[in-house]
Amino acid sequence: MGMDTRWRKKLVCWSDAPKQDGKILDCATGTGVLAFEFHKQLGAKSHITAVDFCEEMLEQARKINREASSTKNIHFQLADIHQLPFQDKTFDVCSIGYGLRNTKDPIKALKEMARVTKPGGTVMILETGDKPMFLLSPFFYLYFRYIMPRIGSWITGQKSAYEYLQKSSRDFPSRRLLLKLMKETNCFSKCEYKTLFFGASFIYKAQVSHPKNNS
Ligand SMILES: C[S@@+](CC[C@H](N)C(=O)[O-])C[C@H]1O[C@@H](n2cnc3c(N)ncnc32)[C@H](O)[C@@H]1O
Repeated sequence: MGMDTRWRKKLVCWSDAPKQDGKILDCATGTGVLAFEFHKQLGAKSHITAVDFCEEMLEQARKINREASSTKNIHFQLADIHQLPFQDKTFDVCSIGYGLRNTKDPIKALKEMARVTKPGGTVMILETGDKPMFLLSPFFYLYFRYIMPRIGSWITGQKSAYEYLQKSSRDFPSRRLLLKLMKETNCFSKCEYKTLFFGASFIYKAQVSHPKNNS
C-alpha cells in the first residue's frame, strides 16, 4: 500500500542530513529506493553514494536512474557492508533500509557503518518488526503468514521471497533488542527508535561517537 515509501521519507527527514554538501552513504541499497529519497529531499548539492554486494541490483538502480526524467547524481558502487571501501569518518549520514536483517553479521555491519560515519553523524536503519503490538498480533500473523505470500506469489511468482520476509522479520531483533545490539558495538552515544504502523516496521537513529573498541 506504499507505506514503505512514506517510511523512507520519514527516515530521511529524521536523519538530520545536512541540506548543503551532505555526504550520504546508503548501504544494501538494492534498486536504490532510499538513495533516491535522500536525493529528492536534499537536492543536487548532496553527495550520495549507494552500495550493495549484488551487481544485478545495482544495474537495476543505475537503469532506473538513467531512465528517470532527470538523472540524479548518485554513485552506485559494489561493496559488502561488512567491509566498506571508505575511509573512517567520511559520511554525515549512513543508512540502511530493510537490509540489516539480511546481513551475515549485523554487529560487524553496524560497526562498519559507524566507522565510515563522522563523529556526531547519524546511522539510520529502517527495518521490519519481529512482532506487532499485542492486540494486532493475530491480524499481522494472518497477513504475513498466509495473505502476503499468496498475493506476492500471484504478482511476482516468487512465493519463497515473501515467506523469507516473514521468517527473517520474526527472527531478527527489533525495538529494545536491536537498540541493545547497537549499544554492544560501543560506537554510538545515543540510540532511539520510532514505531511505524503498530510495529510493522521501525526506524532507528543512532548518533555516532568515536568507536571505543572496533575489533
Ligand atoms: C530488501 S533489499 C533492500 C533494498 C532497499 N535498501 C530498500 O530500502 O528497500 C536488501 C538488499 O541488501 C543487500 N545485501 C544483503 N547483504 C548485504 C551485504 N553484506 N552487503 C551489501 N549488501 C547486502 C541485498 O543484495 C539486497 O539488495
